[in-house]
Amino acid sequence: MQISYARLSYVMAGVVLILVLAGVAANLVKDRERRQNVAIAMTSGDPTRAAEIFRRYGCVGCHIIPGVPGADGKVGGPLTDLRQRVYIGGVVNNTPENLVQWIVFPQRFSANSAMPATGISEAEARDLAAYLYAR
Ligand code: HEC
Repeated sequence: MQISYARLSYVMAGVVLILVLAGVAANLVKDRERRQNVAIAMTSGDPTRAAEIFRRYGCVGCHIIPGVPGADGKVGGPLTDLRQRVYIGGVVNNTPENLVQWIVFPQRFSANSAMPATGISEAEARDLAAYLYAR
């Protein structure tokens, strides 16, 4: 049987392409895991509980929240890129403690804020903060 070199080089190119794509995918997964671990260490929260908590306290009706289906509210701004923000609510430094306290009781920092205190517990707010910083 004869092997055509042209055909062989197509096969090799295909193999190389698959290896490169697999490498890129593995790196994306690793990046995501690393971000999640950092967010958990920063907040002591559990991001896997967040989606249900966002729904229970009505956050989804007022905010777009990436990765939470149906969270398309536009009363407040989108809760995206929280780990890159300098301020929360435009009034207080973006630290894990301040984010948790903002989620529990925004008026602590911003007396006239239109965001209501929803009755969420501090432990639940930590889970949300972990989720938001992991994105
Ligand atoms: C009734 C609507 C409403 C609900 C419910 C609500 N928010 Fe907000 N939220 C707002 C508004 C309006 C702002 C902007 C307020 C401000 O800047 O004073 C805001 C601001 C924020 C910010 C600061 C964002 C930034 O860009 O700095 C965070 C974080 C946040 N909300 C999280 C939450 C979470 C988590 C929940 C659920 C526990 C929630 N919000 C529930 C209306 C709401």
